[in-house]
Amino acid sequence: MLGNKVSTWLWLTIAGLAVAGACAQLPLETNGTGRPPTRATLSATPPAATPAPIPARDSLGYETRPPRDPNGIGRYYLGRQIAHVMGHEGADWLERDERTQEEGTDLLVRELRLQPTDVVADIGAGTGFFAFRLARLVPRGQVLAVDIQPEMITELTERRAKNGLTNVQPVLSTTADPRLPADGVDLALIVDAYHEFDHPREMGRVIARALRPGTGRLALVEYRAEDPNVPIKAVHKMSVAQAKREMAAIGLELVEVRETLPQQHLLLFRRR
Ligand SMILES: C[S@@+](CC[C@H](N)C(=O)[O-])C[C@H]1O[C@@H](n2cnc3c(N)ncnc32)[C@H](O)[C@@H]1O
Repeated sequence: MLGNKVSTWLWLTIAGLAVAGACAQLPLETNGTGRPPTRATLSATPPAATPAPIPARDSLGYETRPPRDPNGIGRYYLGRQIAHVMGHEGADWLERDERTQEEGTDLLVRELRLQPTDVVADIGAGTGFFAFRLARLVPRGQVLAVDIQPEMITELTERRAKNGLTNVQPVLSTTADPRLPADGVDLALIVDAYHEFDHPREMGRVIARALRPGTGRLALVEYRAEDPNVPIKAVHKMSVAQAKREMAAIGLELVEVRETLPQQHLLLFRRR
């Protein structure tokens, strides 16, 4: 009798364990019921993984996150996404015939009001579209034509040999250092290039330090972000407010906004 009870208990225990094991292997979606999930059974499933936190801005104002706009590099500075660098393959676009009219480049050169002895730094000079035009206006000064692409530096050197404007000095720089002399620049000019700088804060500090104390100016020329009719991709444009914010971070104050160009702001900054 006792033997029968023990064996019945033993069989029941083994059968119970088998059922429990089988249930544990049922797919989660059926929740062990064999039926499609209902709102109730779904609520019993574990919550979806929490999305990765958006990295905070670092102490210099940079953030890295997936690009909001595919034309940008996914690196942000003070909230603005930085654009890809225009490769040297695009050099012809910088020298296109229509550019003078489209961008009012002669007017821009006049607006800079240079003195014949000025030292000018054309930062992100590209092919030297502006560097060579400015060199004619500073016959007793110099134009430092700064760029990070060796191909652009080769182009600048060849063009200098062709046109004999020996007061243009090509400077191969790095993305964080434009290699400018401290306190030695009367005008730093950045045309359609600043939005590509991937270390704008580090670049900006060197540029600010290079401006001649008291008189040195930075002329920043960027397509107007405030104007939807300017036919340029958003990451290649900049608003006055954003430019002001970024320059304030490196100790420069906005002294003049000139809106005489067809598509671009001309913003003049000085050391505070
Ligand atoms: C769109 S092009 C403009 C060239 C010229 N300013 C013009 O308007 O004809 C931008 C240039 O900036 C250069 N550039 C990008 N990042 C730079 C950096 N951190 N320092 C110096 N040059 C840079 C690129 O190599 C490219 O030649």
